[in-house]
Amino acid sequence: MKIVELRLCNFRNFKEQQFFFGDINVIFGKNAQGKTNILEAIYYLCNFRPVKTTKEIEIINFDSDFSYIKGIFEDNGDLIDREIYLTRDGTKKIKEMGFEIKKVKDISNRIRTIFFSPDNLSLVKGSPSVRRRFFDSLISEIKPAYYNYLKDYFRVLMQKNKLIKNKDAKFFYNRELIEVFNDKIIDFSSVIVKMRLAFLKKFIPFVNEFYADFSGNDTLIDLKYNSPIAEVGEFSIDEIKLKMKEEIKRGYQGPHTDDYIFLSGGREVKRYGSQGEIRTLVLSMIFSRGKIIYEYAGKMPIILLDDVLYELDYNRRQNLLKNDYGQLFITATDIKNLPGEILKRASLIGLPKEG
Ligand SMILES: Nc1ncnc2c1ncn2[C@@H]1O[C@H](COP(=O)(O)OP(=O)(O)OP(=O)(O)O)[C@@H](O)[C@H]1O
Ligand SMILES: [Mg+2]
Repeated sequence: MKIVELRLCNFRNFKEQQFFFGDINVIFGKNAQGKTNILEAIYYLCNFRPVKTTKEIEIINFDSDFSYIKGIFEDNGDLIDREIYLTRDGTKKIKEMGFEIKKVKDISNRIRTIFFSPDNLSLVKGSPSVRRRFFDSLISEIKPAYYNYLKDYFRVLMQKNKLIKNKDAKFFYNRELIEVFNDKIIDFSSVIVKMRLAFLKKFIPFVNEFYADFSGNDTLIDLKYNSPIAEVGEFSIDEIKLKMKEEIKRGYQGPHTDDYIFLSGGREVKRYGSQGEIRTLVLSMIFSRGKIIYEYAGKMPIILLDDVLYELDYNRRQNLLKNDYGQLFITATDIKNLPGEILKRASLIGLPKEG
């Protein structure tokens, strides 16, 4: 799946503009010309929401009351066109092939994207919740049952916490109820942990493959599941449950507090990794995510890489961009530092654009 044409009308800084894309696209121009905005428009057309949790109407050009975006996508030779029309009062109309779509979930063509921005570096540098969110959303995407387990788990956890916090409730009378909640928590969380471990086993080789590819060296990357319950490995549900029962008594809260640790050559990347290494690792994770989705959905997501090139040396840039993993977009302030062979193959989109 790829986007071949984009039309923007009153989208962010673009009043009226049309773009044509190829397989590798380099969007270049000085600061504040709209490079990120183009990636955002593509993301918006595919996901129907802005990249960040900004208010949706912020995408409308300051001087207008509406924004209109149209994309033409190509899927195995078939063309799909999609339009979004958003007005300042929040009314949003989505059309696909000219037909209005009332509910996003009714759209049959799910067009997946992967968006990299420097914010993603928090996957390695940031708090555990960022990593949990990354893995939870990815596992849910390929295993919807996982999402349901997570939902059930959080529901029971909330009920239990409410019960404990409720000062009026006679805690001692509710002991049995707490036990019932604990049993449920153990049931759900053992499945969650088991699924996370199984996923990591599959995910790590992909990360290593991309890391070796991008860095050009054979440093081994490892990803450890950081929990008192289990690290990566073979554990049966019963073993996990048993361990969980013991740990809960010791004050373990559950898998919503677990973390993932990255090791490079046996050392923790968060502590010892250079900027370029961290960036390479995060990119390897992002591309691995794409590959996992490709295996699951049969289609490679559109890869949108914003400000990705900084801190990467020439070889890493070259290795990253020579990829054949799907349609790729990157932004750059100038193209001088891009490898010549990439420039030959890429569609170059310079901003500001005439017309
Ligand atoms: N709703 C809007 N209406 C008009 N302009 C907007 C709107 N939202 C953002 N902009 C402007 O669009 C301009 C381009 O932003 P963008 O982030 O795409 O630039 P960029 O080319 O990626 O720059 P950089 O190289 O600094 O990353 C900014 O000056 C921003 O203020
Ligand atoms: Mg930008």
